Order: sequence, then structure tokens, then C-alpha cells
Amino acid sequence: MEKPRKTTISLIKCDVGSLAGHHVVPKPLLEVAENALRKAQAEGLINSYYVFNAGDDLELLMVHEKGESNPQIHQLAWDTFQKAAQKALSLKLYGAGQDLLKTAFSGNIRGLGPGVAEMEIEERGSDPIVVFAADKTSGGAFNFLLFSIFADPMNTAGLVIDPNMIGGFKFEVLDVFESKKVLLKCPEEMHELLALIGSPERYVISRVWRARDNLICAVSSITRLSLIAGKYVGKDDPVLIVRAQHGLPAVGEILVPFLHTYFVEGWMRGSHWAPIMPVSLKHSKCTVFDGPPRIVALGFQVGNGKIASDDEGKPLISDLFDDPAFDLARREALEYASILRRMGEFEPARLSPEKMEYTTLPEVLRKLKDRFKPV
Ligand code: F6R
Ligand code: MG
Ligand code: MG
Repeated sequence: MEKPRKTTISLIKCDVGSLAGHHVVPKPLLEVAENALRKAQAEGLINSYYVFNAGDDLELLMVHEKGESNPQIHQLAWDTFQKAAQKALSLKLYGAGQDLLKTAFSGNIRGLGPGVAEMEIEERGSDPIVVFAADKTSGGAFNFLLFSIFADPMNTAGLVIDPNMIGGFKFEVLDVFESKKVLLKCPEEMHELLALIGSPERYVISRVWRARDNLICAVSSITRLSLIAGKYVGKDDPVLIVRAQHGLPAVGEILVPFLHTYFVEGWMRGSHWAPIMPVSLKHSKCTVFDGPPRIVALGFQVGNGKIASDDEGKPLISDLFDDPAFDLARREALEYASILRRMGEFEPARLSPEKMEYTTLPEVLRKLKDRFKPV
């Protein structure tokens, strides 16, 4: 029997600078990335690519056959971000090179600032993929989403109805403070899983597999920019790759959590609770109070080592949130946003003091320290 073909989906992102603050990646930077990846495709390093933005984050979606953590692929992403940052610098854009925290690249882009989600799959007959990219929030923002998709039978009908899914899914959860990970199996350990991932700033779901055969189903990017840089440098603005259909959650089950909004950490100065807003690529820019945090979702097919494309070779990409079906969530997001903004800098609109440790607030508080007198 022919061995199944192995194909890798790499989604690597970086804030290299924005037009007018921190709200959007302007066209010249997208063009730098487009040119770099077009060349890499022509040279055969990657088979397909798609360049897009999530707010002020430049997103490189690449499909290739080199596996995860491949030095050549990571070098390509690193060089592309460097070139885009140079362009941002030459235009004096804001925050040029923001996430390029380290200067020396030595084979792997992880830990240098950019966010990475990579999934090597054994191609099935047909492989529908959904990728998510969010701005002004952190990796834990996907906890609620991934739990809903892969563990909540009230969200995913397939967990109840599809014999291939009834056995449940396994979750890898990272403790980002202690750099440890744990594997939990649902439905058996659902309550233990919730005990951890209900604290999304510390415990982040990094990978999901189907329990019955260990088929990889989801991979998210885990970076802690503040821990790498040792100071506040914006939120991590995570990305996520999810596989769909035929014994896995359907695309509709992957998207249905966005019938409503939910709350995530981030927004202005990475210091506030905020409702997340699903948006089309056209609306992928963070404006009001630097937000609200936005998320885009793209759907495509992977087969024969690449993204299915049209006759001109252009990848067929569906902008999934470009749909009135998500108007309710958008409306809710704005309503909740306006309620929270009325609270200004009072908790719970602002994050708890513990979470504010990772922002620029401690600098302000330090100045007051000596002025406190005993009572
Ligand atoms: C959040 C973010 C922005 C900035 C804010 C202040 O992740 O990037 O909300 O924190 O615009 O930015 P600076 O300090 O650069 O003026
Ligand atoms: Mg920025
Ligand atoms: Mg960003």
C-alpha cells in the first residue's frame, strides 16, 4: 500500500510595525512578504503560501513538505520578517520590528519573538483546514474555543453523533510560567482540563489529538513575548491551525463558538478584559481602544502537498467570518466593549494586579513606593 503523503502547514506571525499606531499591517509590508514567499515557492522551498494580516500582525501561511521546525522554513520566515521590518523602518512606521526581539537566528524562530503554529499531517483523502489569527490578545484566548470545539458536546454534535468522535480528544496543556506540559483526555478528564484552562494566562492548550488513533487535530502558537523580552512588549496575538470533517469537528462546529463573543485578555496596552470580535480580512484592524481584540478565520483545502488553488495557481482561501452569520457576535462584542469602557481603569475592566505585573503599570507604581507612610 502507498504510504500517506506527509505535508506541513506552517503559520508564522510577527508584528513588524504598523501604520498609525498598532492597528494594521499596511500594504507595502504585505507586499514585501508576498514577494519573499512567491520567490520561495518558485525555488521549490514551499509549495503554497498566503500572506495576510491580523491587525498589526503579519501572517505567513506556508504549506510544504519539510516537516515541523525545519531550519530552512524558519529561516525563510525570519528573513521575510527582517525585510518587512526594514521596510517599516524606512517608512518610519510605528513599532517597526516590534516582535523581532532577538538578533541572532540559529535554525529555529521559536523563542525569538515571532509566533509559530505548525502541523505535519498525513494527508487524508481530503483535508479541510481552518486557521485562526487573533490580534490584541494572548494564546490562552483559544482555550475557550478549543474546549468548545473538541470537548463540549453542546457545541460539537459530532461528539455525540459521530462514532469516530465519540471516544473523545486528548489535550496538551502548557503551564507557560513553569514551562511544563500535561496531557489530559476528554471526556474522562474534562473537569481537570477545565480546572487548568479556566486560567488562560497560565495554562494554554497547545495541541489536540483524536483519542482513538492520535490523529493530530489542532496546534496553537505559544509564545510569551513578555517572558522572552523580560518586559511588556504587547500581547502575543496567537494563531491556531485546526483540521476539520470526516471524523473530526465539522467546519461549522469549529465556527459555531463565534455565534457569540467571549471575553479575552488584551485590548489596550494588553491590560484589559475584552470581548473578542470575529471579523473578515477587510475588517482586520484594531481601532477602538486598540481593538476590540479581533480574530480572522480562513478555510482552505490541503492536498498533494499544497493548498488547493485555481487555474492560475492562486490558493483558494475562504474568508470565513466574512458572513452576516457572525453579525450577532460582532454586535455583542461592541455592546460588551462599551459596557467595559464605561468602567475605565477600574477592575474588572482592567486586569487583576497579578496580571498587570506583565504590563507597564509596575513602573508607574514603583515611583509611588517611597511616598507611602506607615499608618
Ligand atoms: C496592545 C498594543 C497597544 C499598545 C498601545 C500603546 O498589544 O500593542 O494597545 O500597547 O497602543 O502603545 P505605545 O506604548 O507604543 O504608545
Ligand atoms: Mg504592534
Ligand atoms: Mg498585534
